[in-house]
Amino acid sequence: MELKLYLEEKKRIVEDFLAEYFKKGIRPDVLGDAMKYSVFAGGKRLRPVLCIAAYEACGGNGQDILPQAGALELIHTYSLIHDDLPAMDDDDLRRGKPTNHKVYGEAVAILAGDGLLTEAFRMFSSSSRISATALLAGIRELSAAAGLYGMVAGQAMDIISEGKVPQIDTLEFIHRNKTAALIRASLMIGGILTETDERTLQALKHYGEGIGLAFQVVDDILDVTGTTEELGKTKGADDSRGKMTYPALYGIERSRVIAADLITTALDAIQPMGEEKAFRLKEIANYLTRRTN
Ligand code: IPE
Ligand code: IPE
Ligand code: MG
Ligand code: MG
Ligand code: MG
Repeated sequence: MELKLYLEEKKRIVEDFLAEYFKKGIRPDVLGDAMKYSVFAGGKRLRPVLCIAAYEACGGNGQDILPQAGALELIHTYSLIHDDLPAMDDDDLRRGKPTNHKVYGEAVAILAGDGLLTEAFRMFSSSSRISATALLAGIRELSAAAGLYGMVAGQAMDIISEGKVPQIDTLEFIHRNKTAALIRASLMIGGILTETDERTLQALKHYGEGIGLAFQVVDDILDVTGTTEELGKTKGADDSRGKMTYPALYGIERSRVIAADLITTALDAIQPMGEEKAFRLKEIANYLTRRTN
């Protein structure tokens, strides 16, 4: 199957699962509405798709891990809602729509994010198809990557670094933590849930680190070279907030080379998995340098 169709198909099964999950009423209505507003505003669903691709590369069937893949998207969506808040990046547009706080106000947007983050762990842990041991290992990986040893730490460093002269080690810390950590965890969780061997887990980890960092480098590049329409978020936002980004430190051309090199490193990392298993993951890695949103 062609990559485009593969990505569309996986995205659809994740979205169908999430739609079914959120059918139940949430009280108060406005909290449920705010959560659903951002979850169903669109988005590439990259993290759940990567989790499913890794799970299937290790011999599983993606249908068995929809609660775990879905949980990754809830955490990602929470991170976007909070990232856009006036106290953070102060953005008005996300996934082509007004940001959550623009529609529901800051207090409800903060709570919608809190709701998605905590519900993610309930969703992740409610599964009859995966062993309790594998679920626990997955939760441990996810909580580290989403929290103090990943996204939250990266977001904190991102915010306190605004307006400062870019430094390579700080920049790498921000990007590896705010973005690469959850992408790496998505892949590792796919492996963990099949109870695969340590060598494969390490391959997925290094692949995830490479594509995860490349993903944020490309996000920085697109903020400069993309269009607001294509991105679904306001172009040029990083420069106007004095963000520490790859283009700010290296310029566009060099940032492109860095992203391409990271993808090459990621491809090398999954080589040991063998051509047949690694095929989709390789295709996805190559697509990430070409993406326009
Ligand atoms: C945006 O992530 C935030 C970053 C980590 C760069 P995505 O580019 O995956 O956003 P959606 O989910 O497709 O909207
Ligand atoms: C966000 O990085 C990473 C998150 C954890 C949400 P950005 O601030 O660059 O993401 P965008 O560009 O607003 O999507
Ligand atoms: Mg940000
Ligand atoms: Mg932002
Ligand atoms: Mg960005």
